[in-house]
Amino acid sequence: MPSDFPIVVLDSGAGGLSVLKKIHELMPNEELIYMADSYFAPYGPRSERVIKNRCFENMGFVELQNAKALVLACNTATAAAVKELREAFDIPIIGMEPAVKPAADLTRTGVIGVLATEGTLDSEKFMDLQSLFRDRVEIITKACPGLVDEIERIELDRGEIVKLVTEYTEVFLERGGDTLVLGCTHYALITDIISEIVGPEVVVVDTGMAVAKELKRRLQAEELNSDSKVKGRVSFFTSGNVEDQQIVLSRNWQEEIFVLHYLNFLLTV
Ligand code: DGL
Repeated sequence: MPSDFPIVVLDSGAGGLSVLKKIHELMPNEELIYMADSYFAPYGPRSERVIKNRCFENMGFVELQNAKALVLACNTATAAAVKELREAFDIPIIGMEPAVKPAADLTRTGVIGVLATEGTLDSEKFMDLQSLFRDRVEIITKACPGLVDEIERIELDRGEIVKLVTEYTEVFLERGGDTLVLGCTHYALITDIISEIVGPEVVVVDTGMAVAKELKRRLQAEELNSDSKVKGRVSFFTSGNVEDQQIVLSRNWQEEIFVLHYLNFLLTV
């Protein structure tokens, strides 16, 4: 596989941009394609079967782009589908996992929190992860219904986000938690709001850079890293409404970008 082929980064919506940003920072010469499955967002409340199906359907576009690697920049999709995707496709597939281990190493009070979607917290993958650390630390998990929808809004309502985050971090703070894991890539887009609410004593842990580093390591191991000397192109696709996503993705990428519809793209090929 030629090393100048693109890397695809996939999420249910804008959340994976928090990972894309780190990948672009770490490997600026790689060509990157972002896929926001916005029509089906949020994934969090959907069943594992539906998320798995969507991931496999999305792979049609990933293959069409001749992707040399896929980053599943979604904790929920990783929990539901990464195993089957790795079995079915030959390219390296890097997934996301809530950073429970780094948090368990960092905490001084012995109490950590994990904010994630219902889908991630209910998954077998997360239960297994949690059971590895339950003896060492107290883990306060909290599903955050509605929060992804707020982050995906065309017009952000900061007051509503503050209200939800305050509610979802209440028990964690009451129990003396000092390390908070963002187990959903969308939440990393509002790190500043979350940090403000939990206060300066709490370390907020996000896995974006760790995933970017893991991707780099995998590409190097398979001699797939680009040797281009020029900055790589970053393209943006959505399965949702292009005009809406133009606004939502541009806001979260912090730059005016051009968004295309990937289902139309599939149909016209
Ligand atoms: N951003 C995703 C995650 O990391 C999914 C959010 C959603 O669609 O519910 O879990």
